[in-house]
Amino acid sequence: MADRQARNGMDVQTLFFRQFLQHPMQVASAVPSSRFLMRRIVAAAAGEQAGLMVELGPGTGGTTRALLEALPAHGRLLAIEVNPDLHRAVSSIADERLIAHRGSACDLPAIMARYGFERADAVVSGIPFSTMDRALGERIAAAVADALAPDGRFVAYQASARVAELCQPHLGVPRVDTELLNFPPMRVFRWERTGG
Ligand SMILES: C[S@@+](CC[C@H](N)C(=O)[O-])C[C@H]1O[C@@H](n2cnc3c(N)ncnc32)[C@H](O)[C@@H]1O
Repeated sequence: MADRQARNGMDVQTLFFRQFLQHPMQVASAVPSSRFLMRRIVAAAAGEQAGLMVELGPGTGGTTRALLEALPAHGRLLAIEVNPDLHRAVSSIADERLIAHRGSACDLPAIMARYGFERADAVVSGIPFSTMDRALGERIAAAVADALAPDGRFVAYQASARVAELCQPHLGVPRVDTELLNFPPMRVFRWERTGG
């Protein structure tokens, strides 16, 4: 039930679609990620080994719940959502490992510092790099690279390849998989640091 009801009894699909209609460039998708895409994201993030995971753009929290399922008991998930209504939905997830923060990914260094976190084992992002201002995208890409632990991973699920272009100067060339069982079909970009 908690998976379907976001808040005040409103179905998560309805909440997500309404926010998409009001903020199309920011939400960028009319429906939340499919379970097939979520499975692919979770596998790419390797969250079962993570002490700290950061999620950028949790939306109504479907991806957040999937990441929490993989996270170990001692792990933490810092989920950063800019939209107040969607942030409220993520905040309703009852899990002590979750910190649901309302704010923008562009403030990632300050947000991590606020909670006493230095480095993330994995950053997972659904925020739309293709529709945001280029300078903002560059800033977020640099912040994500700085936030990663020496063997950390960055996973970004996007319809567009803009994120790969923005991250290349910091993280190199990503591995890319495509999930067709999602609307729209989505690419999953993955960078893995190797102790450097
Ligand atoms: C495509 S939706 C993904 C939602 C959810 N993770 C899913 O897969 O169903 C993108 C989400 O990123 C959020 N977002 C967009 N720009 C953001 C930013 N700068 N910082 C944090 N969240 C942002 C939107 O509000 C939206 O919830």
